Amino acid sequence: IDPSSTPPDAFLSGRPAPAARPHDSHKGSFGDVAVIGGAPGMTGAALLAATSALHAGAGRVFVGLLEADAPALASEYALMLRAPGTLPLDRLTVVCGCGAGTALGDLLPTAIDQAAALVLDADGLNALAADRRLHDALRARAATGRPTVLTPHPLEAARLLGTDTPAVQDDRLGAARRLADAFRCTVVLKGSGSVIASPDSTPRINPTGNARLATGGTGDVLAGMVGAALASGLAAADAAAHAVWWHGAVADGWPAGRPFSATQLAREAGRGLVQR
Ligand code: APR
Ligand code: MG
Repeated sequence: IDPSSTPPDAFLSGRPAPAARPHDSHKGSFGDVAVIGGAPGMTGAALLAATSALHAGAGRVFVGLLEADAPALASEYALMLRAPGTLPLDRLTVVCGCGAGTALGDLLPTAIDQAAALVLDADGLNALAADRRLHDALRARAATGRPTVLTPHPLEAARLLGTDTPAVQDDRLGAARRLADAFRCTVVLKGSGSVIASPDSTPRINPTGNARLATGGTGDVLAGMVGAALASGLAAADAAAHAVWWHGAVADGWPAGRPFSATQLAREAGRGLVQR
């Protein structure tokens, strides 16, 4: 894949790329993202997702860190630290679960109930797999029409499906479809050839990306990119497709010999997603 090429219409089901930023736009024009995660020892995961959302074009990014004594790391990135319980979730695209450990508590059912748009990743997905009531809450959320994207890697998908990783990997298309149908939302089953599935539609396989992405934190960066794409107003399936495409395309276009890390990737998260 030519990393400078735009995703083909067939991949995006013919939907337009994110709109150009109008001359008279302001930061309120692009949507606000809140990342909830970052338990003690894992604050980096939440900050990576938030940094990525900011670079991917979100108007404002709040970080609700579960680590109460977090240093003011976030100010370096123009991120706004908030106590997670004080975020106005009904007005935000919420990215929930990066580095959350087992510390989400009531924040997860509240986010499922209230978030204007929702991305569940990592420990948000593990909490979902462990609590049948959250499954019902997600289905109830789907009935309201507010968008939701789940971004499991194969082990997280296996936990959600009550199976094991080899079974997921043996039938990635089927696993993604089953998850999308079970939770009535868009699912990105990550890994080489990420699968994007939504209820009642044909799943798509992302052609971009490579083994450079096999390094800790790249999943958190993707979650932030999906959040920014949702906050910009794209529908769930399109937000997921654009984000997954460009996440991989940045890795494909990475100069040989230049060190690659999730931190570097987060800083390039606007490529393709932000029209300048
Ligand atoms: N080819 C293409 N894409 C790949 C490849 C590959 N070979 N390897 C990884 N990726 C992509 C995936 O598609 C996904 O978008 O990189 C991303 C990895 O995301 P995760 O598996 O969620 O990994 P991440 O959360 O960054 O870190 C892994 O580290 O923080 C800990 O325990 C935590 O499970 C987590 C682990
Ligand atoms: Mg992950």
